[in-house]
Amino acid sequence: MKVHQSTHNYPHIDRLVSDTMKHYNSLEYLSEKYGQFYFEDKDGFFLDYFTDVLKFYKLGTKAANPRVHFMETGASHLDGHDHQIDTGVFYIQAQKDSGDLVLMDSKITIIPEVNYFVGIPAREMHSIGENKNFEIRMALVFDIIG
Ligand SMILES: [Fe+2]
Repeated sequence: MKVHQSTHNYPHIDRLVSDTMKHYNSLEYLSEKYGQFYFEDKDGFFLDYFTDVLKFYKLGTKAANPRVHFMETGASHLDGHDHQIDTGVFYIQAQKDSGDLVLMDSKITIIPEVNYFVGIPAREMHSIGENKNFEIRMALVFDIIG
């Protein structure tokens, strides 16, 4: 897979964000990784949205392991890392100053924006700048297989 960038106006984004925030605030335990927060879809909360988003992107069964990636104000992920698998990132709450995504191998800098979709190839080194906005930056993230 090559780096893919596109914008799609997901029609239910407002509900997705408000329900995600409600769920986020109700969580008793968050696993912290590199100053960011993840939670996996263990309780089915995201499945309806995820299915909907996949339909929207026509990704069918190629996506797996959906999760929401949170980055609170002041958090960053400046050390580069890569993923084993092609990864889809769909920004659901993101301001221009909430941390650029830098694809180090491809030398592409992506300024986050709501409804923006990025496909990151496996092994592509990437980093995320500091979230300088007051809002939590949130992205729906999933593996792209096959
Ligand atoms: Fe990553």
